[in-house]
Amino acid sequence: MNQPNKVQEYEKVLDLLEHFLKKYQNLGRNAIETSIVSLLKNNISGLFFVGFYEVIDENYLEVGPYQSTILATPRIEKGKGQCGQCWAEGKVQIQEDVKVCQNYIACDNETQSEIVIPVIKNGVVQSVLDIDSEHLSRFDEVDSKYLQRIVEYLI
Ligand code: SME
Repeated sequence: MNQPNKVQEYEKVLDLLEHFLKKYQNLGRNAIETSIVSLLKNNISGLFFVGFYEVIDENYLEVGPYQSTILATPRIEKGKGQCGQCWAEGKVQIQEDVKVCQNYIACDNETQSEIVIPVIKNGVVQSVLDIDSEHLSRFDEVDSKYLQRIVEYLI
């Protein structure tokens, strides 16, 4: 996908999200996460899975709001898979080709590439935003920058 189109898509999502959150103030975390998932899945091209995983205790993530045709792995241990690694390191993970990734948990056969964004509040990871694509090398710094801006609405 060319970068101007990608930027345009994310700008639209940011615009829609800002208007939505201005209209409905003081929403809880679940409502904001669910709305972010819906906006991303329906406005950004080439996304097969969009969802949050929530930190539920010191060892596990549990699946939160998501959209996809698959059933997501419901629990992920800290450090395991790209989501668990994102939580453990507190850093964005980008996998251009999940088939060659050593630390990857497969939920389906469609996914080729993945990005995971940590949601960090007061230095502590609260949840991670996991996005899969059926295209190889779908994600780059532009996705990372915009997705980090988008999850800031949860903080
Ligand atoms: N691929 C993720 C697991 C979650 S599913 O993709 C929805 C991982 O490696 O942590």
